[in-house]
Amino acid sequence: MSYVGITRDGRVATITIDRQKKLNALNPEVIDELGQAFETLRSDEDIGAVILTGAGEKAFVAGADIGVLATMDPMSGVSVSRQGQEVFRSIETFPRPVIAAVGGYALGGGCELALACHLRVASENARFGLPEVGLGIIPGYGGTVRLARIVGLGRALELTLTGEMITAERAAEIGLANAVVPREQLMEHTLKMASKIASNAPVALSLALESVYQALDSSTAESMRFESSLFGLLASTSDMKEGMQAFIEKRKAEFTGS
Ligand code: COA
Repeated sequence: MSYVGITRDGRVATITIDRQKKLNALNPEVIDELGQAFETLRSDEDIGAVILTGAGEKAFVAGADIGVLATMDPMSGVSVSRQGQEVFRSIETFPRPVIAAVGGYALGGGCELALACHLRVASENARFGLPEVGLGIIPGYGGTVRLARIVGLGRALELTLTGEMITAERAAEIGLANAVVPREQLMEHTLKMASKIASNAPVALSLALESVYQALDSSTAESMRFESSLFGLLASTSDMKEGMQAFIEKRKAEFTGS
């Protein structure tokens, strides 16, 4: 792949978008490769968590490629949006936790990409924003759907309608960033968080994600029933027995993902 790389550190995979000349802006090739990277990892049982980041010191992703957007007509506009939505949805439904390590600008499609991840760690120099309305468009990769769920309606509308960037510190205040760390500690801190997550029972992680996201689209009663079913299902795993046995024996659990 030309723009997207995958590296491994134990049970944590890191996916890096590298198109630094354009601040990692998302053109159709980058989005396609991003989809392929997650597809490759999806069936890898040895992965416990994924970090998604952008190469270079300046940007996570500075948005969809404005050069591409500038030439769109109504039909290609729909397909540009759908392509991004589909790949971002594959990140949101990825069966292991995905953490965005945001080391600079996360604007427009870059902010939406971070929103499609399950958690976000920002460096102090990170900036988040949805500047689309200043370009005569709206967020088209799920931003109008996901942002309000994460930060609440009023704050989402403020960001969407002003198009203004916010600092990492403000992003943490409103729950958009889960943590803020100095730039030089970004990857180390995110890897530590990912490794901690990846040390938990894999099937439990996967079903926790499924239950939380399913609840966003269903009634309380249905969601509770779904949660109970998944809760019960976990009693069939050897990892449940191992987790509880390890607690009783005062030792660290050794999970196998079964
Ligand atoms: N699409 C295409 N190219 C982009 C881009 C984007 N979203 N964001 C940055 N770039 C390109 C710039 O055009 C420039 O390319 P060039 O050197 O060939 O001219 C290069 O990346 C570096 O960006 P530059 O603007 O020179 O850096 P800066 O430090 O002065 O400003 C930003 C950084 C992020 C504030 C500015 O690049 C910007 O506003 N980008 C667009 C953000 C945006 O509106 N995103 C939403 C799109 S829907």
